[in-house]
Amino acid sequence: MLKSPLFEDANIEVFMKRDDLNHPEIQGNKWHKLKFNLEQAKLQNKTTLLTFGGAYSNHIAATAAAAKLYGFSSMGFIRGDELQNTPSKWSHTLKTAHLNGMQLHFLSRTDYRLKSQLNFQHQLQQSYPDAWIIPEGGSNDLAIAGLQTLATEIDQQCPNWTHLITAVGTGATLSGLVRHLKMNSAQTVLGVATLGSGDFLKTDICRWIQNDNDWVAEKNPKNWAFLNLENPIRYGKITPEIELTQQQFRAEFDIVLDPIYTAKMVLGFYEALSKNRFPPNSKIILLHTGGLQGLQTLTSDPF
Ligand SMILES: Cc1ncc(COP(=O)(O)O)c(C=O)c1O
Repeated sequence: MLKSPLFEDANIEVFMKRDDLNHPEIQGNKWHKLKFNLEQAKLQNKTTLLTFGGAYSNHIAATAAAAKLYGFSSMGFIRGDELQNTPSKWSHTLKTAHLNGMQLHFLSRTDYRLKSQLNFQHQLQQSYPDAWIIPEGGSNDLAIAGLQTLATEIDQQCPNWTHLITAVGTGATLSGLVRHLKMNSAQTVLGVATLGSGDFLKTDICRWIQNDNDWVAEKNPKNWAFLNLENPIRYGKITPEIELTQQQFRAEFDIVLDPIYTAKMVLGFYEALSKNRFPPNSKIILLHTGGLQGLQTLTSDPF
């Protein structure tokens, strides 16, 4: 539980679910999203994990670490071919992934956009038949299934929560939680989008959530919504507001936040609190999804 006069004044309880502590190397939501992918890859006798991401992708770092730990080779298709011949400019994420044995292939931004097209995927699978292909962010149906454990932990550790707040990239983490949490109509999962307003993710999120035999859209009490920042922050941009959020949260609670996901989530929470969006007696869980690996080389503007 996080104790603060601000929360007492608002008559709310605030908790942080420290999922960043769930695995030493494959932190936070990454472990939940990858674990069934690793299992399937083994079952299908695949020897390589192949995936996609940007130069600062936590998913790239996590996949490389998981491959090393669980006996796979790994291959990362990275956005930005300008990095091809300039390893000195690689981010800490790319350097660590490479040290963990990941073969890095750099794609132009145009080619990178093709990655989710069926044709491209098919060709890739033919070129690398031994590879288990994982989409960007690790977000697939197995990732959704993997979030069951986290949902169960939350249900058990803090059953009467009213609001659960998480950062949103692809929306898979939010979807997996909404899908697996035992929710009632008094509970809402709020997602702070890190890329635009997140509206473009609604189709994926609805598909991932509804992909459940007993889900009846109109009758289901499972509420979720986006919690948008007052002033949208471009993906990956580290503004003074984000830095201040990180500093103040660390000073008050001794908890480190990453600037791209968890600090944005916490900023979204404080903005909503300042607008009295949480009724008295609310029990709010802030989900720490990890992402701390990238802190080491992030500068004020990584792009
Ligand atoms: C630390 C962290 N938190 C949250 C997210 C968002 O997860 P999702 O893509 O499942 O929405 C990510 C994305 O990869 C992440 O790295």
